[in-house]
Amino acid sequence: MDRLLITGGVPLEGTVTVSGAKNAALPLIAATLLTDRPVELDNVPELADVTSMLRLVQRIGTSATYVGGAPGRVRLHTPELLAREAPYDLVRKMRASVLVLGPLLARGGEARVSLPGGCAIGPRPIDLHLKALERLGAVIDLVDGYVEARAPKGLAGAEIEFPQPSVGATENALMAAVLARGATRIVGAAREPEIVDLALLLRSMGARIVGAGTSVIEIEGVARLEGASHTIMPDRIEAGTYAMAAGITGGTLLIRNAPLELLGAAREKLVEAGLELVETQDGFVARRADGVLEGVDVMTRPYPGFATDLQAQFMALMCVARGAAMVTETIFENRFMHVPELMRLGARITVHGGSALVRGVERLKGAPVMATDLRASVSLVLAALAAEGRTEINRIYHLDRGYEHLDKKLAAVGARIERVP
Ligand code: UD1
Repeated sequence: MDRLLITGGVPLEGTVTVSGAKNAALPLIAATLLTDRPVELDNVPELADVTSMLRLVQRIGTSATYVGGAPGRVRLHTPELLAREAPYDLVRKMRASVLVLGPLLARGGEARVSLPGGCAIGPRPIDLHLKALERLGAVIDLVDGYVEARAPKGLAGAEIEFPQPSVGATENALMAAVLARGATRIVGAAREPEIVDLALLLRSMGARIVGAGTSVIEIEGVARLEGASHTIMPDRIEAGTYAMAAGITGGTLLIRNAPLELLGAAREKLVEAGLELVETQDGFVARRADGVLEGVDVMTRPYPGFATDLQAQFMALMCVARGAAMVTETIFENRFMHVPELMRLGARITVHGGSALVRGVERLKGAPVMATDLRASVSLVLAALAAEGRTEINRIYHLDRGYEHLDKKLAAVGARIERVP
């Protein structure tokens, strides 16, 4: 298993290009199952999770070919659904596999998808996905750890009301509703930009959708969808992570292919913490404004609130800020696995329930640490970049799930980072 060796203390300088968004690529690949025509996706990031999703749709009957020999552009074509299943071994490794449920049910009238079970950041149930599909007329049974969903006479439009926003459940509902008979109204929908990207692809395939990006999405079902071509949006979490890499090392990064407004509430919080973020033509420059980071409280919220996927990285930043910061996680239970690892690097953090009080220290010190989930892992990378001496990060396969060429991108802007087998 690969490890990362990082020797901290180098201010990062240079240009980083943000990749296509993992959290858009995964649902968009699932959405290509909705049509028997070819769909081309551009700006597809090279990530382990994307490979897993491609493997899953290939088992279902999709041919996936790289256009022009480069990995970024993929042509997906599913003339027929040969299987209607997402097996346990795939769903367990990547929860987003449950996103094939809506498309399989809508196009093929049935689907069998493993229940994901627990994951490192809490129980993460899929009850909202299932209730939404039931509203559209699916009959759902739980058999031997699998969700078995059927809609022998097709799905029918309905009003779906979510008691709390869920990104995945909104996506599954949307993908099911586009081929349902009649009108669907999703109330309490998640508003994340990745949902807007999904709706853009579906609309270019011929779906009729209004309101994506707001909490009410209206869909008028169509009988069939066509082929399309779509460029995947930039990864806002990756962009925010590199902005913090500039901040924590006291360097200056030009972050390309990432509109600043995609950062949502994180933008203001980073500025409050002492970063300067200056918009450029296709991205922004991030640097520490006057040399000092200030402790700032954050609370994770659904978009446009502060993203839970940036919480661990922000906590790393706060570890070296002046004063204290309260970091509150409201989206996922158990999303503080990075805390004990950051403390191994010398951070001062006290956790009370869903809040972590971070008291900034002058300097972190390198140590061996263990990556536990995707965002926790990258927070350790940020801390290591700022720490004195060498940090060894083990179990970095989590990073490969969600950060394209992280070590290469960081090395190119001056980080002393080495990947060793
Ligand atoms: C997506 C993102 C993930 C991000 C999260 C929140 C992808 C592939 N993953 O995950 O990176 O951290 O949004 O921004 O896009 N919930 C239920 N029942 C359900 C579904 C969700 O109770 O059926 C709860 C979850 O446990 C959690 C909250 O709702 O507390 C939000 O989860 P959700 O928005 O669904 O996250 P994901 O779509 O899994």
